[in-house]
Amino acid sequence: MAAKKKAASGERALITGASAGIGASLAKQFAAGGFDLVLVARSGDKLDVIAKALRSEHAVDVTVIAMDLAVVGAPKKLFDAVAKRELDVDVLVNNAGVMEMAGFAVTAPERHQQMIALNVATLTDMLSYFMQPMIERGRGRILNVASIAAFQPVPSLATYAATKAYVLSLTEALAVELKPRGISVTALCPGLTETDMVASARESNSAASQLPPFLIGDVEDVAEQGYAACMAGEVIRVPGALNYMATIAARATPKWMMRAMGSMAGRFALDKT
Ligand SMILES: NC(=O)c1ccc[n+]([C@@H]2O[C@H](COP(=O)([O-])OP(=O)(O)OC[C@H]3O[C@@H](n4cnc5c(N)ncnc54)[C@H](OP(=O)(O)O)[C@@H]3O)[C@@H](O)[C@H]2O)c1
Repeated sequence: MAAKKKAASGERALITGASAGIGASLAKQFAAGGFDLVLVARSGDKLDVIAKALRSEHAVDVTVIAMDLAVVGAPKKLFDAVAKRELDVDVLVNNAGVMEMAGFAVTAPERHQQMIALNVATLTDMLSYFMQPMIERGRGRILNVASIAAFQPVPSLATYAATKAYVLSLTEALAVELKPRGISVTALCPGLTETDMVASARESNSAASQLPPFLIGDVEDVAEQGYAACMAGEVIRVPGALNYMATIAARATPKWMMRAMGSMAGRFALDKT
């Protein structure tokens, strides 16, 4: 395995959704890589525990900002809070996201809007604000957490998959736009990963509870791959050989065939919703 690429002295990463799951594991990866951190999520108490552990284990500076990022205007508020503390952000990790697994019609309208607000609107706003100082400095890294659901429509995850297709498309376009400005933009596209998000899907949907364990990835492995891809300036990283093959197949398969396959998988999930 290649040696872990490290931060330059004093470099800082801001990670959203760092209180649990993939975001908390990404925080460990960046701390182990020598980055100072700004950790953001709603649960300040959980962030404080993580920050304390990372400070003592890796001797890095960790700032905790508890904030609901789905609220309109939150990314600007966060940007101002970071500027007020005079913290430069060299790496932006847009990880916070929510998922709802159920048929579109039986999902409450507010739940669709919550997914669009956090996964799309907030992520876009975060990019708008935090990329400006990177452009001024002529360097920076951005890691957007998408999903393998970004590569094709997914019945029973229709809105969620559409939000992640947006994240992937935006990432690919920005990777090209920002490369001449010295900024890399990476999409991490995990498959199912063992976190609270998947645990809640299992609880609310009996189809999800029957998923075979080999389909569910390890959160530390996903985060390690996200860190490595970000540091290497890769545009798309899909952790796991099976997941990677699925994304290649999705791109090589005619859309009508993907819809037919999605319809079979969706019927299985929705019958049990
Ligand atoms: N797990 C998977 O199978 C999987 C697969 C592919 C992609 N992903 C993507 O990976 C990312 C992380 O997912 P995960 O599985 O680690 O989820 P998770 O365990 O549910 O963690 C989600 C994180 O986002 C934070 N968050 C949620 N709503 C927020 C809000 N309104 N404002 C601020 N922070 C908020 C949560 O903290 P608080 O509750 O403290 O706010 C938590 O730290 C998401 O973008 C997800 O779509 C996950």
